[in-house]
Amino acid sequence: MKSVLVTGGAGFIGSNFIHWLLKHDPEVRIVNLDALTYAGSLENLRDLPDESRHTFVQGSITDRELIDRIFAEHKIDTVVHFAAESHVDRSIHNPGVFVDTNVVGTFTLLEAARRFWLVEKTHPIEAVRFHHVSTDEVFGTLAPHEPPFEEDTSYAPRSPYAASKASSDHFVRAYNTTYGLPITISNCSNNYGPRQFPEKLIPLMVLNAVNGRPLPVYGDGMQIRDWLYVDDHCEAIWKVATKGRVGETYCVGGDNQPPNIEIVKTICSILDELQPDSEFTPHEQLITYVQDRPGHDRRYDIRIDKIHEELGWQPSHDLAQGLLDTVKWYLDNPEWIEAITKQSDLNTWMKKNYGERKA
Ligand code: NAD
Ligand code: TYD
Repeated sequence: MKSVLVTGGAGFIGSNFIHWLLKHDPEVRIVNLDALTYAGSLENLRDLPDESRHTFVQGSITDRELIDRIFAEHKIDTVVHFAAESHVDRSIHNPGVFVDTNVVGTFTLLEAARRFWLVEKTHPIEAVRFHHVSTDEVFGTLAPHEPPFEEDTSYAPRSPYAASKASSDHFVRAYNTTYGLPITISNCSNNYGPRQFPEKLIPLMVLNAVNGRPLPVYGDGMQIRDWLYVDDHCEAIWKVATKGRVGETYCVGGDNQPPNIEIVKTICSILDELQPDSEFTPHEQLITYVQDRPGHDRRYDIRIDKIHEELGWQPSHDLAQGLLDTVKWYLDNPEWIEAITKQSDLNTWMKKNYGERKA
């Protein structure tokens, strides 16, 4: 059995990963270390496929003593590191916590892995792996005709979030080249799907539309993201962590690049169909263009040839179906929305980020 430390497993991708991994690999036991910040919730860990192979620990990835205890008690041989502050807009308002969690937290985990795996040699070196989950935002922004990001594209982060993730990627790579720590990194594009905290574009638009609130589109709405259904990302991560070459980076993406406004309009038409009698139909009437995000990256696009050729991975969800399933999931889970709204700072955040944004 592998003994896997998942960090940030109560957040969006981390919790989907735990559901996915327990279902797809009977040979793993998981310890889930999560601080339960505003973005993490035990609601995301309800109805796991096999509770007995999952242990939850509340705590921070900056707490070295706690991490050492987890490594020792659970004989950790694999780390899949998701825990992070993840929202660009919050990084603009409050960058310090991004440095603490994303940079110092990653460094702290690397130090623990170095102690147990390289100094104390608790496992044979070929049996351990530190997989770092990162983002395509480390590469910066693309002009209209520039080629997609790929593994050797230079780093050019432009938001405090992207800069903190870039820094953590550099530390992870440095621990491989300097100490020989067996690492892999995946840089993935925007994810969507169930259990995403409703500060991000897709769930925010769904919840605002259902409730007749304005749909705040930044700038001209022509910014482009590459969208990947979260389960496809989970599969890619596990392939890289278990079969990827040590020291390597793999780019992951969905091969879907509509401009933001198209995503918002698609959500509106899905809701028009699912809720034809809503007083807010047609939901497009709620679209409101608002002041742009400072330093807003214009376009992302990412090449997935390496992971496809080496590991046989490719996305299996089509965007139209994935969006439909996602909208339905939010409509079918009002208790989740209520619990998440109550236990987080969502209402305060909405006022802070949108209250003074000019239309
Ligand atoms: P999220 O914000 O939904 O979840 C982050 C989780 O980390 C939360 O459960 C939170 O409680 C936990 N956490 C925060 N600080 C912590 C700390 N100090 N110690 C322990 N736990 C802490 O984020 P997400 O969207 O699930 O992203 C997960 C990872 O994937 C991040 O590293 C992010 O950079 C990366 N990523 C995200 C996307 C995306 O589209 N969401 C795309 C590519 C990569
Ligand atoms: P987001 O989901 O925050 O992800 P990221 O900034 O990491 O790509 O935003 C996705 C895109 O949607 C991004 O171009 C910003 C835009 N956006 C809006 O237009 N309005 C909003 O209220 C939000 C949250 C995002």
